[in-house]
Amino acid sequence: MNSAQIRKLFPILDQEVNGHPLVYLDSAASSQKPISVIEAVKQYYEHDNANVHRGVHTLGSRATDAYEGAREKVARFINAKRTEEIIFTRGTTTALNLVASSYARLNCQEGDEIVITPMEHHSNLIPWQQAAKATGATLKYIPLQPDGTILLSDVEQIITDRTKVVSMTYVSNVLGVVNPVKQVAEIAHRHGAVMVVDGAQSTPHMKVDVQDLDCDFYAFSGHKMCGPTGIGVLYGKKSLLNNMEPIEFGGEMIDEVGLYESTWKEIPYRFEGGTPIIAGAVGLGAAIDFLEEIGMDEIERHEHQLTAYAMERLSEIEGITIYGPQKRAGLVTFNLGDVHPHDVATVLDAQGIAIRAGHHCCQPLMRWLEASSTARASLYLYNTEEDVDRLVKGLIQTKEYFGYAIG
Ligand SMILES: Cc1ncc(COP(=O)(O)O)c(C=O)c1O
Repeated sequence: MNSAQIRKLFPILDQEVNGHPLVYLDSAASSQKPISVIEAVKQYYEHDNANVHRGVHTLGSRATDAYEGAREKVARFINAKRTEEIIFTRGTTTALNLVASSYARLNCQEGDEIVITPMEHHSNLIPWQQAAKATGATLKYIPLQPDGTILLSDVEQIITDRTKVVSMTYVSNVLGVVNPVKQVAEIAHRHGAVMVVDGAQSTPHMKVDVQDLDCDFYAFSGHKMCGPTGIGVLYGKKSLLNNMEPIEFGGEMIDEVGLYESTWKEIPYRFEGGTPIIAGAVGLGAAIDFLEEIGMDEIERHEHQLTAYAMERLSEIEGITIYGPQKRAGLVTFNLGDVHPHDVATVLDAQGIAIRAGHHCCQPLMRWLEASSTARASLYLYNTEEDVDRLVKGLIQTKEYFGYAIG
């Protein structure tokens, strides 16, 4: 199936926006959903909806099977060793907060170090700031090279025997940098630290194997990979999860409750307090089926090709600044002369083209780029060269609109 055929499986893309056929270039913020995912959620609500793990009735069993079946699919998808290593969360943000609030607060103390990079999304930065403040640990940053990449020689220097946690995005949502997380995990382990990977921008676009990466925790969101909003995943190694305390307490996560003391269920349930995100998990399972049917290698190949095309075409526009390295994942962050990115996005929207403008939840990185904000076009399996051509044409019109010379 080519991208034009794949596009037809996404009903939302078949519409006009402001009188023009929609070009959706904001999948890094949230992807669109194929009909199979929409149908799976509908089917669940129309036929199987009930609460899980408690009911003895048929619908309760079906809902439980659907929910636990989704967990098995996720485990297979990222090659986790065990299904119980998959915790359903609301998304990447909740997953990373769980590690920072539970693992880091239990295992860090004054004198210890938490190591991250300045390219992190706020979701992988603020939880560590807070954990450092709460424990007295020091937050340290691996410096960025001029193109936004990191050097393993710097990683070797920054990580020490005092480092307890290293956390890093696999793919930057601004620069498109693909970080060498496997090698960083190896360095972290040599010093007795755990490796946390923010997989929000990698999981939707490439084959991920958590055993091969040998990361200790890995977080991602369903809504960026064709699944519904409100569902995400924290993968954690069993030996670590088993020694962590829950951070949310209530129904579903307990074993025995007394008036003054309680005990918790085994993993993963102890981290899933309250009625879980059942329909979301079902939708995520359907999204995984969809992505696997197309093939993660094929998705990566398509995006690689389309990104090279986008980089080439966009570089031709006079006055454009593109941020990040040449070798990158499927997104291009840029500024167009002195035109404010919000104005760029607004003029493009009038032509039916959806891109993102702002700080992309990366304020420290924006400061490093010396830009208050940027525009970002992000690609996915349903985007085509025609979409890129429309973007380029739209940007040239934007320049005309704001009175710049046409490149
Ligand atoms: C790299 C990265 N990490 C974390 C997140 C947070 O994801 P969510 O908002 O789904 O929790 C995002 C979202 O854009 C992201 O791009």
